[in-house]
Amino acid sequence: MKKILITRKLIKSSEELASKIFETKLNKKDDLLTKDELIKKSEDCDGILSSLTEKIDADVISKLSDKIKIISNFAVGFGNIDINAAKKRNIAVTNTPDVLTDATAEIAMLILLGAARRATEGIKAVHTKNWKWTADFLMGKQLTGSRLGILGMGRIGRAVAERARSFGMSIHYFNRSRLSKELEKDAIYHKSLESLLSVSDFFSINCPATEETKHIINKEAIKFFPDGAVISNSARGDMIDDEAMVEALKNGKIYSLGIDVYNGEPNIHPGYLVLPNVFVLPHLGSATKKTRTAMANLAVDNMKDFFQTGKCKNQVN
Ligand code: GLV
Repeated sequence: MKKILITRKLIKSSEELASKIFETKLNKKDDLLTKDELIKKSEDCDGILSSLTEKIDADVISKLSDKIKIISNFAVGFGNIDINAAKKRNIAVTNTPDVLTDATAEIAMLILLGAARRATEGIKAVHTKNWKWTADFLMGKQLTGSRLGILGMGRIGRAVAERARSFGMSIHYFNRSRLSKELEKDAIYHKSLESLLSVSDFFSINCPATEETKHIINKEAIKFFPDGAVISNSARGDMIDDEAMVEALKNGKIYSLGIDVYNGEPNIHPGYLVLPNVFVLPHLGSATKKTRTAMANLAVDNMKDFFQTGKCKNQVN
């Protein structure tokens, strides 16, 4: 029986599934493992079922035992793992696509709506009993009839587009390459990010975190938005330069921001916590029982397939 380290506590049924197939080392207390602990605990294992909370960089990978043949990441994003360093050591890296698309697109819509309709101020007013209905109380921006720019038209970007269409938004996008007509539907492709930004009354970040997308929404990029744009980020914190964003939220260039993911989670840029036009959530994109169970089971299946066949359809390196 192969032995695996599961770095974080999973939903019970998924841990049980894994323990039927593998000899498992579980993290009962769900403490975050340091890099050294991860290396040490995985020493006698054949694989690691990791989470986005572990940074498995080139240094960690160089120190992993030769026994380790697979890192199965319990997430669709794999920016936490140096996949090239893993490849050089012949370690397969896998992710959990598809199963979290709907849940994440729902959160993308929630934060877009929360930002546009001033939910942070509204919730605070209710909690402090400091409100009465007036004709102009907390007027926000309406999605219906507006343009939504989507950065990254992969599965999640397209699922956001689908939902936004039903809100009566017109869809624009920028992606590494143009989609087929069938996938694109009525969405308008932009050849450059600047072109997309310039029509984005609303903007949803749905691309992966890579070297190219790091701080892609920076001071220069923000200048291209129409004045008063509403932005949402349900992908990874890496895409936003927080200093530039906080400045734009303060001076009104950006009307509001809905955000579920952060640079250096669980830390949050302090500006986001004090500005009334920021609607924050604690990385809840895939957080439904149905989705988290499906993700964990897929992460286990990826390992099972890999050990049985030497391959796995969700290998990313
Ligand atoms: C969640 O953020 C994921 O990448 O799965």
